[in-house]
Amino acid sequence: MPEIFSRIVGTGSALPERAMSNVALAQELANRGVETSDEWIRTRTGIENRYLADASETTAVLAERAARRALESAQLKPENLDLIIVATTTPDQVFPSTACQLQARLNAKMGAAFDIQAVCAGFVYAVSVADAMIRSGVYQNALVVGADVMSRLIDWNDRSTCVLFGDGAGAVVLKGSETPGVLAAKMASNGHLGMDVLSCPGRIVGGSLVDDGFLRMDGQQVFRTAVGMMTESAKEVLAMAGLTIEDVDRYVPHQANLRIMQKIAEKLGLPDEKVVVTVDRHGNTSAASVPLALDSAVREGKIQEGDAVLMQAVGAGMAWGSLLVRF
Ligand code: ACO
Repeated sequence: MPEIFSRIVGTGSALPERAMSNVALAQELANRGVETSDEWIRTRTGIENRYLADASETTAVLAERAARRALESAQLKPENLDLIIVATTTPDQVFPSTACQLQARLNAKMGAAFDIQAVCAGFVYAVSVADAMIRSGVYQNALVVGADVMSRLIDWNDRSTCVLFGDGAGAVVLKGSETPGVLAAKMASNGHLGMDVLSCPGRIVGGSLVDDGFLRMDGQQVFRTAVGMMTESAKEVLAMAGLTIEDVDRYVPHQANLRIMQKIAEKLGLPDEKVVVTVDRHGNTSAASVPLALDSAVREGKIQEGDAVLMQAVGAGMAWGSLLVRF
């Protein structure tokens, strides 16, 4: 039996209808007495715009739109899927999982569907797991979605966080193959770092929300930690695949902050033109950020067949990881 690998054979993404520029957001926040500006947001983060979901644009709705586009580009019918993994921190309900809801929406009937919760690193985790499951030989056609409606967790009175996030979904289809697509995948976490740095402690008890239901963050701590983790993680997957940084054609990092991406690229020795940047358009969309950026790059022709693409994400937990993928 030849060795089985997994390949990304399709990508898709979806955004809510409502775009919100920094200028429009600053105006809305001013009406609540919260002071910010386009200039502050742009210079500190690189964000210029984000998309915000309305009540009908749930995580499952955005996930379905992204999934259908990915399936279309992979030329695969939902009934041929035997694995669905959704990475999300903002499921529409406690259970069933968003992946099971997506399975029903797509009318896909075979195999397994489950969610992964690794916050911003969720998509990288989900692809790592799907890759291992395909390489086991048990599963052949996987749909992996990163979908988040982070605006539901945002405290609009907290200017240090509310300007950073947006909503959206991104998806890939992975297929079993005799030629390697995913060259190396590595997940990592350190629970000792996480609780005070980035969290949303709220939970449902006895039918009500207990504790703070908003996202809280020590931005500077996240910044410092993220740069070190991503740089090391990139070196790890390159070593696993026996490649060097010069072999990387495109870098698709987690779209949290332009300055974080630039710092990592500089430390790795990656030129700016290889870095895919969509944080200006989308803001930080958590688990959706990497697949949204990936799909944008594919559709803009920035990723071609044969390219080696490094993808990375880091977030609450702290949890992080890297993927090195041949397209
Ligand atoms: N508008 C105007 N002023 C603001 C805003 C705002 N939206 N937010 C904070 N400020 C003020 C602060 O009150 C502070 O004022 P002071 O000096 O009078 O006290 C000043 O700006 C500087 O605040 P800092 O927090 O020191 O600003 P910093 O330069 O660290 O930038 C930022 C903050 C953008 C959050 C940065 O730390 C960062 O990007 N960190 C990474 C966090 C991140 O990306 N998290 C996403 C989730 S995790 C992930 O996805 C990896």
